[in-house]
Amino acid sequence: MSIIFTEKDKIFTLHTKDATYQMKVDAYGFLLHLYYGKKTMGNMDYLLQFADRGFSGNPNDVGNDRTYSMDVLPQELPCQGTGDYRSPAIVIRNADGSYGCDFRYRGHRITKGKYGLPHLPAVYADEKEADTLEIDLEDPVTNMRITLFYGVLSDLNIITRSACIRNCGRKKIYLKKAQAACLDFVNGDYDFICFYGRHAMERNVQRLPVAHGAQVIESRRGTSSHQYNPMMILAEHEATEDAGSCYAMTFVYSGSFKGEVEKDQYNQTRMQLGLSDEMFSYPLEAGEEFFVPEVVLSYSREGLAKLSQNLHICFRKNLCRGKYKTSPRPILLNSWEASYFNFNGDSIYQLAKDAAELGIEMLVLDDGWFGKRDDDNSGLGDWYVNEEKLGEPLGSLIEKINRLGLKFGIWIEPESVNEDSDLFRAHPDWALAIPGRGPVRARNQLVLDFSRKEVVDYVFTKLCEVLDQGNIEYIKFDMNRSLSDCFSQGTKDQGRVYYDYVLGLYDFLERLVQRYPDVLLEGCSGGGGRFDAGMLYYSPQIWCSDNTDALDRVKIQYGTSFGYPVSSVGSHVSAVPNHQTGRITPFHTRGVIAMAGTFGYELDPKQLSKEEKQELKEQMKTYRNYADLIQNGLYYRLSDPSVQEVGAWEFVSEDGRKALLNAVVLHVHGNMTVNYVRLKGLKEGCMYKEEASGNVYASDALMEAGIPLPSRLGDYQAYQMCFTELEE
Ligand code: GLA
Repeated sequence: MSIIFTEKDKIFTLHTKDATYQMKVDAYGFLLHLYYGKKTMGNMDYLLQFADRGFSGNPNDVGNDRTYSMDVLPQELPCQGTGDYRSPAIVIRNADGSYGCDFRYRGHRITKGKYGLPHLPAVYADEKEADTLEIDLEDPVTNMRITLFYGVLSDLNIITRSACIRNCGRKKIYLKKAQAACLDFVNGDYDFICFYGRHAMERNVQRLPVAHGAQVIESRRGTSSHQYNPMMILAEHEATEDAGSCYAMTFVYSGSFKGEVEKDQYNQTRMQLGLSDEMFSYPLEAGEEFFVPEVVLSYSREGLAKLSQNLHICFRKNLCRGKYKTSPRPILLNSWEASYFNFNGDSIYQLAKDAAELGIEMLVLDDGWFGKRDDDNSGLGDWYVNEEKLGEPLGSLIEKINRLGLKFGIWIEPESVNEDSDLFRAHPDWALAIPGRGPVRARNQLVLDFSRKEVVDYVFTKLCEVLDQGNIEYIKFDMNRSLSDCFSQGTKDQGRVYYDYVLGLYDFLERLVQRYPDVLLEGCSGGGGRFDAGMLYYSPQIWCSDNTDALDRVKIQYGTSFGYPVSSVGSHVSAVPNHQTGRITPFHTRGVIAMAGTFGYELDPKQLSKEEKQELKEQMKTYRNYADLIQNGLYYRLSDPSVQEVGAWEFVSEDGRKALLNAVVLHVHGNMTVNYVRLKGLKEGCMYKEEASGNVYASDALMEAGIPLPSRLGDYQAYQMCFTELEE
């Protein structure tokens, strides 16, 4: 059992393979955090120090003990109103209008297996893989109860946290803030690593020292957003890819969130992640309960590579679901950059034919096949096939494409509506809008009120009518704007709308995966605007960015790799000059970079030269050859492409016997210096053979001195080298 409770000193110890997490119920019933870090034995309550601290209040029941203050003590669930003036995890507006709560320990349960969360995505694990600790806390004045959930996946070095908040009082209260996880560090100097960006340039890495004051990342957009990803890392200043302590928090949620890192007056650091408290005021009537979505925690003392791998393995094996969780994904051709809205049934069939001739496995029909939708100003919401445009029913087009030996996939955007649509004309109140105020438009569209069940039901029924028309084996699930005008006609409590919206979205997605269990779902939101662990519970892959420029993708995929597995990164080879940047990169380079993801194409094969077509076929052969290693291997970042001349990464089989090195020279100069790339993760003291050259190298030399990249003229040259351990 990975969870131990010692009654005598009321200490909970959670052990993973390499880490220990400890907390204690103290004499007053507060749940104090003691330790999270390298695996250790013993009690860490000696770390708690008490002193009379001016202007740090003392809870009423500690009497004259001025040395006891929540303003200083490390806690599992810091609450507003207890004398802790740091940022709280929980804020409640009570029935009498007062703010504040004071939760004390009441009991706990330790069980085998991993808890689940109703209506929310969560890591899953069986009784052999995980244990659960539930700790009940109560505020005796208001009768509010909170159960904290801890899931311990020992082998994966993962701990999950979540909570259920129950109103056991007699009157309605409002939940004003709810963080899912809090880590209080009594000492240490850290860097805060976060992932910021914008549309078409997501998940840039920022690493800054934690200083006094708070550093906050947040989405107020109703989705997890391009601007900040709901993942954050706290690392010792010295921590590198290969060494040093670091901690990750990732939110399994796809809506507004808030991540906070705060260094307090005593140089202690608090790290929290959970729901954004803006426009959040969730009503709980007597007897009602609220589930805080889950945060996944991991600790590594072997640097950032290991930390990322912990998350990758957990998400691949214990979060993603369905047929494509581990099986290879079909190589697809997406119609978007090939023809945008400018297509008809014949041209799509022609695209499929060209794809089939090249050996591509699936054709995806992107935006524009439904309603009146010849550009992005109208039609969203009208989920009926535009048979006039296709020249035939969808079913017969799919049959024809299937007869070519291709699978068929389709694009949808269920949550959005154009004002110029039959749906909006019939139900204008179904869009989020504040009465009397013209709603903010984005991409000339509005957002459907998915906090209302009848809206979700309607869109689901209409979309199923389309999806049932043929053999659809893939769905691209898009969402092309941020939410605004947070007002629902379905409730009087507008502070609940954004959370309920996400529940509506999850309800929709769950129905979709239940009804079409073999369909491959790809999440998308203007590219990577909803690239989060919540979505991965439903869609094992997410379109990483609308930016398909190979060079930019090196950076975007680099940032993404800190939190998410390669198997989840939607990545395609597109045409040059690239449609987002105008840059020209070699076909081979585009292929190597797209292989650091779910490989596919997004171009018109007609525009390719004979040589490029030949190269494309070779590319697919290479990808198929390495697909398993790429999808299921350990991922290593070998360089930081935002500062280094080479972008390099590597996939290594779990047994370390096979490694695929990938490198792209980002800048070329006259009289080039040689770029050496150091491999990682090979077995020490072994010999490896490089596949293409047949050369044999010692693993330690490859890892210590590296391998020189052969010098080649021309911009953005890419290299792939596969190393296999030599048999004795
Ligand atoms: C979003 C997606 C694109 C494409 C368009 C269609 O921007 O990210 O890949 O599907 O929508 O409108």
